[in-house]
Amino acid sequence: MPELSGKIAIVTGGSRGIGRAIAHDLAKEGAAVMIASRDPAALEQTVGEIKNARGRAASIALDLRLPETPAKLVKAAIDEFGGLDIVVNNAGATQRGDFLSLTDEQFIDGFALKYYAAVRTTRAAWPHLKARHGSVVNVIGAGGRTPGAHFAIGGSVNAACLAFTKAIAELGIADGVQVNAVNPGPVRTDRQMVWLEEAAKKEGIKLDEVIARTVKNSKITRMGEPEDIAYLVSFIVSKKGSLFQGSLIDMEGGSTKTI
Ligand SMILES: NC(=O)c1ccc[n+]([C@@H]2O[C@H](COP(=O)([O-])OP(=O)(O)OC[C@H]3O[C@@H](n4cnc5c(N)ncnc54)[C@H](OP(=O)(O)O)[C@@H]3O)[C@@H](O)[C@H]2O)c1
Repeated sequence: MPELSGKIAIVTGGSRGIGRAIAHDLAKEGAAVMIASRDPAALEQTVGEIKNARGRAASIALDLRLPETPAKLVKAAIDEFGGLDIVVNNAGATQRGDFLSLTDEQFIDGFALKYYAAVRTTRAAWPHLKARHGSVVNVIGAGGRTPGAHFAIGGSVNAACLAFTKAIAELGIADGVQVNAVNPGPVRTDRQMVWLEEAAKKEGIKLDEVIARTVKNSKITRMGEPEDIAYLVSFIVSKKGSLFQGSLIDMEGGSTKTI
């Protein structure tokens, strides 16, 4: 029997990139998956792919930056599948750039999605997770540990998410809820490729060269693929990963040089 048979999962930002790969892998492992993001067409596409692979999936289109939407998402999963075992807080999109040109609004927007949506989704899901000894996995980012000058928003948001993970993991010990975080480094998704393509265009060099330079400068083994992160998430929430609690797991090819 698949590892996650009978489990019910939410994946925020499950329509594209890392979230899509996580939704696919959780479904492959037997979980029913509710995915959420804004674009209904992208959601339908991913749900269709999962169903074609004989998985169970449904979606809800909403903007997770709005305070009321995380509770709607949790309700949608309960209404559709009858419970909740796994929450993957993955949706995130922070603006990069020169600190002096970044506005308050851009900082607030970065926190609204990645930090506050994770807090609100976890809060709304908690009683259900507590009832079924469920799991939370926050997909955060290596920049939370080692932020750079052009990543002031992302670094700050990610560090806050890491702190939130640790704090809630302690509550999870009392309540029987597993809480952990995964920190990707550069992963080959649309979001990441847009930055790399822009750099290639600006410098008049090939995309492959920019990727090779990023790998070299970041002192990493290679760029990640969305599936790398997905396999780790499925492992954490499986029986084999049940001892992980409050773990902030770097899966970034070795970019984090701190202890
Ligand atoms: N890719 C990387 O290299 C990398 C590295 C470190 C950390 N991460 C983190 O990993 C997570 C996933 O990144 P990714 O590269 O897979 O991103 P992505 O390809 O841009 O996908 C982002 C997902 O989030 C959804 N989303 C964006 N804004 C939303 C909103 N306001 N409300 C609801 N859903 C929203 C998107 O769908 P819609 O746009 O249709 O809403 C999409 O499904 C993010 O938290 C990111 O910070 C990524």
